[in-house]
Amino acid sequence: MSSADEALDRHRVFFALWPDDTTRAAISRATREAVRLSGGRPIAKDRLHLTVVFLGEITAAGLAIARGVPPIEVGPFELTLDAVGVWPESRILWLAPQAPPEALGELEATLSERLVERGFRADDRTYLPHVTLARRARPVEAEVEPVRWRVEDLVLVESFPDGRNVHYEVLERWPLAPK
Ligand code: 2AM
Repeated sequence: MSSADEALDRHRVFFALWPDDTTRAAISRATREAVRLSGGRPIAKDRLHLTVVFLGEITAAGLAIARGVPPIEVGPFELTLDAVGVWPESRILWLAPQAPPEALGELEATLSERLVERGFRADDRTYLPHVTLARRARPVEAEVEPVRWRVEDLVLVESFPDGRNVHYEVLERWPLAPK
């Protein structure tokens, strides 16, 4: 394969929870004030998501392997997004569950483990589930109306550069199979 072909054979992908339209609208409504106060660059409503495992740039062969990993048998679960904050280093304004449900931890751990078994690199950082709301944010202290999200499936998403933004395409979706 030539180096030009190799460059084309890269896919930037991640596993995520993808809100339905109602949940998207609720996230957007609940966080509007925090986003405004942060002065950051908002993430468009249709791009809001919660990453479970970030794979980064992988080849088409790697992508085929990643697609074969789910389903993950944790069953559907309820996620309450009820905290906002800003990480000072990345300047990301986020929305997160104050108390992540056990099922989410289990989903991330099982998925990561199965990916590592298939040759993907382990991410040794602590998993901090969050929905990025804005970038280049300044610190804010804001209350948020809790958003309840019934999570029923896991998706695999590819990210494509799109001018100053990114465009996301959901490649595949798996129901969270019952335990
Ligand atoms: P972020 O919003 O906190 O930056 C697509 O880029 C998704 O993958 C985003 O949810 C992003 O999280 C996440 N992401 C990007 N780079 C990452 C990395 N190195 N490790 C973990 N998640 C990452």
